[in-house]
Amino acid sequence: SSNYLFVFSVIWLGLIVLLSWGSVGCVCVCEQSPRTSLLRGLFSRFISLLREWVAVQSDSGDHTKWGEVERILNMTAVRIQEMGGTVDIADVGTHQLPSGETVSLPPVILAEFERDPKKATLCIYGHVDVQPAKMADGWTTDPFNLTEIKGNLYGRGATDNKGPVLAWLHAVESYQATEKEIPVNIKLIIEGLEEVGSYGLLELTRKRNDSFFADVDFIVISDNVWATRNPALTYGTRGSSYFFVEVDGPKLDFHSGVYGGSIQEPMSDLIALLGSLLDHTGKILVPGVTDDVAPLTEDERKLYDNISFDLEEMKSVAGVKHFLQDTKEEVLMARWRNPSLSIHGIQGAFSEPGTKTVIPKQVTGKFSIRQVPNMDPPDVERKVRHLQQVFSTLKSPNRLRVTATVGAKPWVANLKNPQYVAGQRAVREVFGVEPELIREGSTIPIAQNFQEETGKSVMMLPIGGHDDGEHSQNEKISRYNYIEGTKLFAAYFYELSLVK
Ligand SMILES: *[C@@H]1O[C@H](CO)[C@@H](O)[C@H](O)[C@H]1NC(C)=O
Ligand SMILES: *[C@@H]1O[C@H](CO)[C@@H](O)[C@H](O)[C@H]1NC(C)=O
Ligand SMILES: *[C@@H]1O[C@H](CO)[C@@H](O)[C@H](O)[C@H]1NC(C)=O
Ligand SMILES: *[C@@H]1O[C@H](CO)[C@@H](O)[C@H](O)[C@H]1NC(C)=O
Ligand SMILES: [Zn+2]
Repeated sequence: SSNYLFVFSVIWLGLIVLLSWGSVGCVCVCEQSPRTSLLRGLFSRFISLLREWVAVQSDSGDHTKWGEVERILNMTAVRIQEMGGTVDIADVGTHQLPSGETVSLPPVILAEFERDPKKATLCIYGHVDVQPAKMADGWTTDPFNLTEIKGNLYGRGATDNKGPVLAWLHAVESYQATEKEIPVNIKLIIEGLEEVGSYGLLELTRKRNDSFFADVDFIVISDNVWATRNPALTYGTRGSSYFFVEVDGPKLDFHSGVYGGSIQEPMSDLIALLGSLLDHTGKILVPGVTDDVAPLTEDERKLYDNISFDLEEMKSVAGVKHFLQDTKEEVLMARWRNPSLSIHGIQGAFSEPGTKTVIPKQVTGKFSIRQVPNMDPPDVERKVRHLQQVFSTLKSPNRLRVTATVGAKPWVANLKNPQYVAGQRAVREVFGVEPELIREGSTIPIAQNFQEETGKSVMMLPIGGHDDGEHSQNEKISRYNYIEGTKLFAAYFYELSLVK
């Protein structure tokens, strides 16, 4: 199609001009085909930028390392300024640590490139902090020294989320290099505390709703990965609430040989309570909890047909004989669009190897419920108090306390929004296939927070591969995904300008 040709001529030209700026201009005299040499030079520049960013140990989980988080935020801001963007370093205040100590938070970057009121405005969200990583955890290569092995770029943050943030900047640069106007206005919101819960970001979003966000039409997030080997657009995430069920009994831990048989044990109460939550088919038994689950429409059901999951492969990855559902579609729905309840642990229980004949005096069961539209975390938390009724049937002398942490709401987007149409077209142009329309079973509160606070359309446009291992040892992004991802973003700017 003509779109395809246009976008690619822009990107090829952009790549070529970019090259002539960099220190890799010498590739022009190589004997190989000029295009191959040019590209090799360009990609090595993109990769060396990623190497510089990965080298910054911006692990936000340890607040004593927030200096490194500030350093990578500064590098990000400087990079955007070098590209002609304006940067607002937003102070997001302080945070109280569990120890009681108050620390000041690293800032959030709000940036924008030149604005034309006639164009649509896209706001890109990303984060430049990372999960912890050390060789001792089982990394094959130094996690902070980006290392290429067989086309994969290994390093902490390579896919989550430094690589994708850089890919967005490279996409902007490709247009600038051709002196072609970027077809949409670009804004960026880049934070450094995503991995610990984005402290301060929600408040900032609220504060800037009437300024920074006012002229934004679309928000895009590239902070997840494809579900299979095929490119994907993500239109939903599950929410969650986490519960503590504390049963408090005798004054002390007792010897089962002394008191066993004469007292009602907190642990047996707790097991009865936890046992009342779900059955062996995974069905949640808490009355009313699943009442508000959005019914499955025929259109939604069809989305699952095209997802290239292989049930046998999934079983072997999970190491299970069978799933609770029979078909690929049902398994994916169970993971993405239906709620689930999982029991995580019992605090206070004897859990060492060997035997100890103790009757624990106090035990706390922990479970969580992954939630889907139209469930509402506060309502789910109310319904879980049903455990008090179960407890009353036990006629226990012990005390029960059920508490919940603040829940995150589920998110689902309208696939008919022009943003999704543009995303689908861009994937088709760059990868030559239909994107899989997927959800995430896990909880990424940021999308729902943006959608709810700003009222704007939100889309997740991942470029990471399904096997990138974000948060895990040997995290990577493939060279292919990094470079094609940059092209995808450039094509997406163009497609977005057509649909608005
Ligand atoms: C980045 O850091 C340098 C050196 O500390 C400082 O001069 C500069 O103002 C910072 N830039 C931004 C945008 O924070
Ligand atoms: C990164 O790894 C390469 C290859 O092993 C090595 O040559 C280089 O010195 C390392 N860089 C740092 C900063 O450790
Ligand atoms: C599934 O894929 C086929 C073939 O690419 C396409 O015609 C159809 O529209 C797709 N269905 C959905 C719901 O996307
Ligand atoms: C934020 O601003 C938009 C208009 O840009 C408005 O529609 C929306 O209701 C505002 N959000 C809140 C929470 O007031
Ligand atoms: Zn991330």
